[in-house]
Amino acid sequence: MSLHSLRGFRDLLPPDSALFTSIEAAAREVFALYGYQELRVPTIELKELFVKATGDTTDIVEKEMYAFTDGGGREVAVRPEGTPGVVRAYIENNLGQTGRNGKYFYIGNMFRAERPQAGRYREFEQIGAEQIGNASPYADAETITMLVRLLEKAGVSGCSVVLNSLGCGECRKAYRETLLNYLRLNTATLCEPCKGRIERNPMRALDCKIDGPVLAEKAPRLSLCPACAGHFSRTQELLNISGVEYQVNTSLVRGLDYYTSTVFEVRSSALGSQDAVCGGGRYDDLVKSMGGPAAAAIGWAVGVDRMAMLLKDKPAAENAPKTFIVAAAKEAGTKAFALLTAMRAAGISSDFSNFELSLKSQMRSADKSGAAFALIIGEDELKAGTVAVKLLKEKGEQLSVAIADAPSEISKRLSA
Ligand code: HAM
Repeated sequence: MSLHSLRGFRDLLPPDSALFTSIEAAAREVFALYGYQELRVPTIELKELFVKATGDTTDIVEKEMYAFTDGGGREVAVRPEGTPGVVRAYIENNLGQTGRNGKYFYIGNMFRAERPQAGRYREFEQIGAEQIGNASPYADAETITMLVRLLEKAGVSGCSVVLNSLGCGECRKAYRETLLNYLRLNTATLCEPCKGRIERNPMRALDCKIDGPVLAEKAPRLSLCPACAGHFSRTQELLNISGVEYQVNTSLVRGLDYYTSTVFEVRSSALGSQDAVCGGGRYDDLVKSMGGPAAAAIGWAVGVDRMAMLLKDKPAAENAPKTFIVAAAKEAGTKAFALLTAMRAAGISSDFSNFELSLKSQMRSADKSGAAFALIIGEDELKAGTVAVKLLKEKGEQLSVAIADAPSEISKRLSA
């Protein structure tokens, strides 16, 4: 049997891998600008964490978790999303008391046993942001603005921001009955899993991948209490001030159980059926329900794989070496290796193939490398203590410089 990667899991080869790195770098810059600090949480947690936080009526927990019993007999799960781990870490490390501002970001791989298709993988990368301890609409507007800036900084364009409010527990208590009555009247249109879960969580049906789109169009709408309506309209005012464009869509419900109040998604029609680039919202009750202090919170996560799909036609970050070192004679290998070391020590990216190969083969590798200059040491150069500098991308005079001057000479030419 030949070894191969699992369905839904994939290798990220260059130059796609460079695309991921550039997205992550853009995100780190934006997070620094907004006062977010990195929080790294484990990939595997107690299964119960996700059952409680993500919610036992979600597709993620019901069908998609990689969960198993470990050697110690504990029920554990590989994280399907980042928010539960961040909330657990916040509570366990008492970050409400000891942390700086409650703003955390993470970059990491998540795992969901979904049916693989374009833009949907079983292992995928998320960049996420969570702000814990700020209940005001300023936090909503700030985090959505930051998300839009991150997409811009990474080079992703053509997306739309969709916004809704799911209200507080009080708003939803009244809505629950109305919606449940509607769903009971329409059980014939429900899929089997929804039939089994509407009594526990009727809103989940609106987000169901199978019957959700039809139901969400026609279902009765939630009406917000005055406090939630005020929060939602203030959030929109503040988004207008920061110049973020959005559309309110009252059928947006999101597929995780912890959401309250503001929820949002960023979508791109260029992605096809898996059009969500980002999802997020408030989860004002989660920290307390997980055993922590009463701390309102809001966050989001972007799918890096989907961002990379949107960037695919743009040129990947140039990471070719600046110089390529060539030994044109066997005896020149030692000097060539010392020069390679000196170039890198001077901060000039440099590469080589194998100083024991023929000049022709080394020059072929030099051309393929994308380097600007080949630095060649042959018998003559060895005697004279020099190096021949050849422009690779354009034709030009080959010149000779003293070997000791090569790093500064090349630096000068590269910045010219
Ligand atoms: P989510 O909507 O489940 O939210 O995922 C966020 C993003 O992750 C999606 O918009 C999508 O881009 C990406 N994503 C999800 N599943 C897959 C998949 N199978 N393959 C590729 N990309 C995928 C959350 O995970 C929440 N934790 C977001 C959040 C943070 N809410 C509050 N704080």
